[in-house]
Amino acid sequence: MKINKIIEKTKRPSLFEKGSSQMWVDEHISQQMLEAHLDPNTDAASRKPYTIDASVKWIKEYICGNNAEQKVLDLGCGPGLYTNRLAKQGFNNVTGIDFSSRSIEYARNQVAELNLHVNYVCQDYLTLNVTNDFDVVLLIYCDFGVLNENERNALLHNIYSNLKPGGKFVFDVFTPNKYRNHTDSRTWNSYKCGFWRPTPHLCLSSNYWYPEERVHLHQTIVIDDNEDLQVYNIWDKTYTLDELSSILSCIGFEELEFYSDITGREYEEDSEIITVIAKRK
Ligand SMILES: C[S@@+](CC[C@H](N)C(=O)[O-])C[C@H]1O[C@@H](n2cnc3c(N)ncnc32)[C@H](O)[C@@H]1O
Repeated sequence: MKINKIIEKTKRPSLFEKGSSQMWVDEHISQQMLEAHLDPNTDAASRKPYTIDASVKWIKEYICGNNAEQKVLDLGCGPGLYTNRLAKQGFNNVTGIDFSSRSIEYARNQVAELNLHVNYVCQDYLTLNVTNDFDVVLLIYCDFGVLNENERNALLHNIYSNLKPGGKFVFDVFTPNKYRNHTDSRTWNSYKCGFWRPTPHLCLSSNYWYPEERVHLHQTIVIDDNEDLQVYNIWDKTYTLDELSSILSCIGFEELEFYSDITGREYEEDSEIITVIAKRK
C-alpha cells in the first residue's frame, strides 16, 4: 500500500463523506455487532434489557394506547429486541426492517422458537417501498443522526406517506450536549484479531466535531493484509428542539412531543437525547 494513499485517507473528511465500507453488513463485523446487541451489560449497539422493557411498555401503553391491533413498523430493528417484545405482548401486526441479514436471521429464529408472529424484512430502509398504512413507525437508538440531509428528508417523506392519518413516527436523536466535552482526537491500536477483523490489523481512529452543523464523526481506518485500507465513518448529526420542529413541520408532521428518552421521561434542557413523537395530519 502506498504511503501517500494512507496519508490522503487520514485527512479530516468533508461533512457526511461516505466511508469505503459499511460495518453493519460486513461478514465479521456484523457478528460482533450482533453479540453487542445481545450483551445485556452494554449499551453499545442496543440499550440494556431493562431500558428496552421500559421503552416497550411506553410504546405499548402511551404510543399505541394499549391497542395491540395497531400496525407497527420498526426501522433498523436489529435482532428484533423491540419487535419481538411487542409480539410477546399480543401485537400481531408488527414489521421489522434491517439490512443486516445476520440480525434478521436471529430475529426470525427467535419468533419461530417462541411461536410469535413478526414480519421481518432484510432491506435498506432508505429504499423503503412499503405500501402499508402504519399506525406507528419506530426508529430507535439515534440512527436518525447517521443520515445526511437528503437521506433524512427522503426518509421522512417516505415515513409520512406510509403512516395512516393520525399515525405516529417515534424516534430518538442525540443532542449537542452529548459532545459538550468533545476535543478532536486521533489514536491507533494493533490487534491480532478483534472487532473489525478476525486477522491481524491496525486501527487508526479519529473523532471530529463539525461545530457549525453540530455533527460528530467517529472514523476508523482499518489496515490489514489486503491491498486496500478500509474506512468506516460513523456520522452523528445532533439536533436541537428548534431544528427538529422546523424539519418535521416542513414535511407535514404536527402535534410534536419531545421527551428525554424513549421511556417517556420528561424533556430536560441538558438531556443528551431527544425522543420525538411526530403525528401525521
Ligand atoms: C444502533 S442499531 C439499533 C438497533 C435497534 N433499533 C435497537 O435499538 O436495538 C442500528 C440498526 O440499524 C440498522 N441499519 C442502519 N442503517 C440501516 C439502513 N439504512 N437500512 C436498514 N437497516 C439499517 C443496523 O443494521 C442496526 O441493526
